[in-house]
Amino acid sequence: MVATDSSGVAVRCAGRIGVVASVAMNLAFLAMYINRHYFGKRRSNDGTSSSKEITTTVEPSKGKPPVTQDSVVNLDQGDPALYKEFWDGTGDRATIVIPVWQTMSYFSDLSGFCWFVEPGFEREVRRLHRLVGNAISDGYHLLVGTGSTQLFQAALYALSPTENGTPMSVVSLAPYYSSYPSVTNFLNSGLYRWDGDANTFTGDKCIELVCSPNNPDGGIRKAVIKSKSTKTIHDFAYYWPQYTPIIEAAGHDIMLFTVSKCTGHAGTRLGWALVKDTEVAQKMIKFMELNTIGVSKDSQLRAAKILKVVCDDYELSPIGKVNHLFHFAQRKMAERWSRLRAVVATSGIFSLPDELSSYCMFAKENVTANPPFAWLRCHKDGVDDFEGFLREHKIITRGGTKFGVDERVVRVSMLDTDEAFNVFIGRVASLK
Ligand SMILES: Cc1ncc(COP(=O)(O)O)c(C=O)c1O
Repeated sequence: MVATDSSGVAVRCAGRIGVVASVAMNLAFLAMYINRHYFGKRRSNDGTSSSKEITTTVEPSKGKPPVTQDSVVNLDQGDPALYKEFWDGTGDRATIVIPVWQTMSYFSDLSGFCWFVEPGFEREVRRLHRLVGNAISDGYHLLVGTGSTQLFQAALYALSPTENGTPMSVVSLAPYYSSYPSVTNFLNSGLYRWDGDANTFTGDKCIELVCSPNNPDGGIRKAVIKSKSTKTIHDFAYYWPQYTPIIEAAGHDIMLFTVSKCTGHAGTRLGWALVKDTEVAQKMIKFMELNTIGVSKDSQLRAAKILKVVCDDYELSPIGKVNHLFHFAQRKMAERWSRLRAVVATSGIFSLPDELSSYCMFAKENVTANPPFAWLRCHKDGVDDFEGFLREHKIITRGGTKFGVDERVVRVSMLDTDEAFNVFIGRVASLK
């Protein structure tokens, strides 16, 4: 009996071991398959395994030189270096590996509205807008561009009539983003031309560029030209919670966004447009086809991952939201603004636009805006060229004339590294 029992147990044991072994082998095969298929552990042409060559880190690009106490501090461009600290903290969670044989085709999705939009990128962008509540994306076509700068040009092309030979006027309320005139006129197009400040425009037909919050002064903008035949392009590069209260889900005809200022990944060169009208969207796609035959798939996959991490953080661990992207960046910006306002208040020679605050639908509380640029005015006697005055003190900024206004005001980036910002604050404090 005992013997029979023990032999039965032995048989059952052997059976179980067999099942466990077979499950383990299947799992091992599955893991190998996933590794090969998705993470690149493939055999190279000479038959050797290439798995050792796969690395998640690349040589860092040189970028800008570091700022020291004595060096020139360049706050001319809005280079979003401030975000590096956040992404350093996410580590590999936001890292992707793209095996060399992937993303080779020109095409992303031939069944989609736009063949060069990666479905994963589109999904995460729409998810982000639902999370933040800054724009309506349902019912809009989503296009991707090499930065929103390319989409801006695509939109100009799409909105300009081709039939009657007169270039379409392009205007924006001064102070306007300094790139608008130069990008519009760069190719001397016969389709459109820069026509200056929207307030002084007297024609009956134009494209109005509405940047809100506005680069350079942080103002909340609406279109000012009332004529029915005016077309608008809304540039929402900075309509994100770290810069401004989210006051409504925007729903304009063409809305431009960019990862450069949303997550700080300017080097990924990726922007997107939400476009209501199908014909306009098709013309924009045509522009992109002729201009660059689509947009980098590698960049789109990277951006999709970045946006996914942002959304996952908020949706899957809402309790820790103070450490998530928008809260982190909002805190950094608020600290910088309070330091700058304190220094300006004691200077007696400088001023800044008034603080704006309002209820933010994303934060669900009243918040103060922290614009990406300081629009700094100088009241010191004898200083007519403020940009030149600051340059003498080794601070590089962008002067008011580039934004369509006077020379006694400059734009200063608030997005640079802590080192650059600290040196800037110290130098401004020393100017009397
Ligand atoms: C208002 C505004 N729109 C667009 C852009 C360009 O963004 P991107 O890097 O996506 O080309 C900038 C960059 O500074 C900007 O300030």
